[in-house]
Amino acid sequence: MAVKAPFNYIGNKYRIIDSIQEFFPENIDTFVDIFCGGCDVSINTKANNVYANDINYFVIGILEEFQKHDVDYILKYIDSTIEKWQLSKTNEGGYKAFRDHYNQTKNPLDLYVLMCFSFNYQFRFNSSHEYNNPFGRNRSSFNEVMRNNLVLFKRQIEDIQFSALDFCAFDYDVLKPGDFIYADPPYLLTCGSYNDGKRGFRGWTENDDYNLLQILTELSDRGVNFALSNVIEHKGLTNDTIIDWSAENDYIIHGINFNYDNCNYHTNNRDNVTKEVLITNY
Ligand SMILES: C[S@@+](CC[C@H](N)C(=O)[O-])C[C@H]1O[C@@H](n2cnc3c(N)ncnc32)[C@H](O)[C@@H]1O
Repeated sequence: MAVKAPFNYIGNKYRIIDSIQEFFPENIDTFVDIFCGGCDVSINTKANNVYANDINYFVIGILEEFQKHDVDYILKYIDSTIEKWQLSKTNEGGYKAFRDHYNQTKNPLDLYVLMCFSFNYQFRFNSSHEYNNPFGRNRSSFNEVMRNNLVLFKRQIEDIQFSALDFCAFDYDVLKPGDFIYADPPYLLTCGSYNDGKRGFRGWTENDDYNLLQILTELSDRGVNFALSNVIEHKGLTNDTIIDWSAENDYIIHGINFNYDNCNYHTNNRDNVTKEVLITNY
C-alpha cells in the first residue's frame, strides 16, 4: 500500500497514485519528481536515485528538516511545541501566538506544527511570505494518523535529494537515456488556488506550460522517459497547447480521472466535465 505524506498538500496525488503509477516504467535508475509538492509520488516510486524538487521552499524546508533529524527527535520536538504553545483544536489564541512566533523565527519544523493546527492543513502565505492560514477550529490537529504517516514517511525520504528551484533552473543533466521524470505542474485550466496570490509564489502561466513542454520534448529526444499529469478539459475549456503538442509528437494520452460534477451522464453538458490525464512518451 502507498505511504501517505504527513501533509494535506493541495493537488497531492495520493488518492490516484495507483492509476498514475500503472503507467510508470519499471526498473528506474534515476527518477526526478520535478513538482514534488508534499512528495506523495517521490516516496512511492522505486528508483536507485530520487530527486524531488518544488519551488515551494517552505515545504522543501520541512522535508529537509525531516531528513536531517531522527524520528524520535522530530516527534519529541512536535510534542513539546504543542505543549509549550498549548495547541489544541479549540485554543485559537495559542495558535495565533505561535503563528506570530513562527513568522518572526521561521523554523521549518514550527511551520509543520502550525500547519497541523490550521484550517484545512494548508500552506498559505501573504505577499510578505508570512504564514497567514487561519485556525482550524474543531478540525485540525497533529493526530495519530498524521503521527503514523510521519513515521512511515520519514523512512521513505532518507535518500531523496531535495531542491527548491523553479523547474526552468533544475539541472536536467542528472537524467540519462532510460531514466524517468514525472511532471505534475499546476494545471492552467484549474489552478485558481495557485494563482490566487495566497501561496506567496508567482502564479502559473501559459508561458510556463510552453517552457515545460519544451523541456520534456528535449528530454524525450535524448531518450529520457517522461510522464506529465495535467487537465486537458475543464468546464468547457480545453488546453489546446498540450493536446496539440501530444499529437504532434505522438505522445500517448492516458485518461486518469474523469470527474463529472453534478453529474448527469445523459446530457452532453461539457461544462461539467474535468478530464485529468497522464501523458507519456513511451
Ligand atoms: C499539482 S502540485 C504537485 C503535487 C505533488 N505531485 C504531490 O503529490 O503532492 C504542483 C506543484 O508545482 C509547484 N510549482 C509551481 N510553480 C513551480 C515552478 N515554477 N517550478 C517548480 N515548482 C513549481 C507548486 O508549488 C506545487 O507544489
